[in-house]
Amino acid sequence: MAKKGNILVVDDEAIMREILEALLAREGYDVALASDGQEGLELARTRTFDAAVVDVMMPGMDGITLLDELRKLDEELPVVLITAFASVENAISAMKRGAFDYITKPFKNDEVLAVVRNATERRRLVAENTALRQNLQAQQQNFSGIIGRGSGMRQVFDLIIQAAPSRSTILITGESGTGKELVARAIHTHSTRADRSFVTVNSGNLPSDLLESTLFGHVKGAFTGAVYPKKGLCDIADKGSIFFDEIGNVPVETQAKLLRVMQEREFMRLGGVENIKVDVRIIAATNCDLQQMVEDGRFREDLYYRLHVINIVLPPLRDRREDIPLLAQHFMEKYARENNRTGIELTPDALDLLMEYGWPGNVRELENVIERAVVLGSGGRIGPDLIPAQVRTPTHIHIPKFVVPPEGISFKDVISNVERKLIESTLEAAGGVQRRAAEMLGIKPTTLNEMLKRHDIGQRRKRTPGAHADGHETSRMKPAVSVPDLTGE
Ligand SMILES: Nc1ncnc2c1ncn2[C@@H]1O[C@H](COP(=O)(O)OP(=O)(O)OP(=O)(O)O)[C@@H](O)[C@H]1O
Ligand SMILES: [Mg+2]
Repeated sequence: MAKKGNILVVDDEAIMREILEALLAREGYDVALASDGQEGLELARTRTFDAAVVDVMMPGMDGITLLDELRKLDEELPVVLITAFASVENAISAMKRGAFDYITKPFKNDEVLAVVRNATERRRLVAENTALRQNLQAQQQNFSGIIGRGSGMRQVFDLIIQAAPSRSTILITGESGTGKELVARAIHTHSTRADRSFVTVNSGNLPSDLLESTLFGHVKGAFTGAVYPKKGLCDIADKGSIFFDEIGNVPVETQAKLLRVMQEREFMRLGGVENIKVDVRIIAATNCDLQQMVEDGRFREDLYYRLHVINIVLPPLRDRREDIPLLAQHFMEKYARENNRTGIELTPDALDLLMEYGWPGNVRELENVIERAVVLGSGGRIGPDLIPAQVRTPTHIHIPKFVVPPEGISFKDVISNVERKLIESTLEAAGGVQRRAAEMLGIKPTTLNEMLKRHDIGQRRKRTPGAHADGHETSRMKPAVSVPDLTGE
């Protein structure tokens, strides 16, 4: 007989255990018995129960304490308490502490069965719910291989789902490495054309006649060397999708022909006279500012509007830092698999560096950094030493919390001290070259020079903080104020 669930029964009285066991087993439950709290807890540690029936009054660990302990092990475990009528008050307070229900002694068999049935039912619902939620989360964090959990990427996922089924043209914009090509593929995968071809056109830097013959094919004798007629990518993409990667690079001459494909869904072969009908979904991507190109006369305005029907904007990675841990994990697993390695993890310090960096190359750059670390690292841990220098150099400085003593501080002194430390650190990073240090700080060399004089910092000489005779400004510092280290270490 299929078991209805595992029930843990904890009672110090042997006769009660026997009654409950017989009753529950007859209903089809699997029953485990324990004669005190400790034993019950041991059982709960080694297996999962669907409900527990626990006597309140027991020598040693009482039922209420056991309830707390059981819920520490398994927050969702429904615990049913059995209590003498006299201690109902206790039972009610136990309900507030998370007991599922209570039964007073003497009890009726039906009553016990009803409560246990409710408990296991609730357990099942909660479990289903958790599974659903986890599923949903997994879905939201990995959409067709696109990783992201922040609101920025979730909006992108939503747009893909909404826009994919139609035949509308979609323009994907975003900086280099933000995942435009992944999104283009996801659109195709979620469309009704998924079982037809997805054709990518790398519009970058092809001369217009070559690009056009690639796209539209040519007739025999269209140009020298065109001995045979040839079909183009538009033919291959018929009933499927065609993806124009870097549409901003399409020469103006070819743009007019593209417009025709979009508007009329037809094209002509190079050297041909016949109109050829085609049913394609057009997806385009660019990291150029097409609007600016329109203004500069490098991109046709009518084509721009045709493309711009639905625009998916991919945010740069620095604007969705919440995705960095998940992406790092994803790439770590990917490259660990490729290199037959297991158990690779990122140290918190290394993750901190990744979280702080500006990622001008976006996800592609992050992927490269992780690949390099996995390949170069021999151990299981990826620490800061495996993160390349460009990432390690902080792009912005975090100022830790100040400890301000109750007797107060001198604002001017603290700021002055911070200023000095910042200048010293920058000078050190600039190898003592003042012009470079000024550049790094975004100030004029003359301003830096004034500051150096004010702080009595020697020229082209590394100084450790406090190594020089304190100027009169710093000597007034109240010692209890800790000045944060600004080097980002
Ligand atoms: N959200 C993401 N989840 C997982 N991988 C991603 C994600 N975004 C980008 N990648 C990966 O980063 C790399 C770059 O992505 P992709 O080629 O799609 O970027 P792109 O925007 O087309 O860049 P470019 O403008 O330089 O062509 C690819 O290896 C891709 O798989
Ligand atoms: Mg691309």
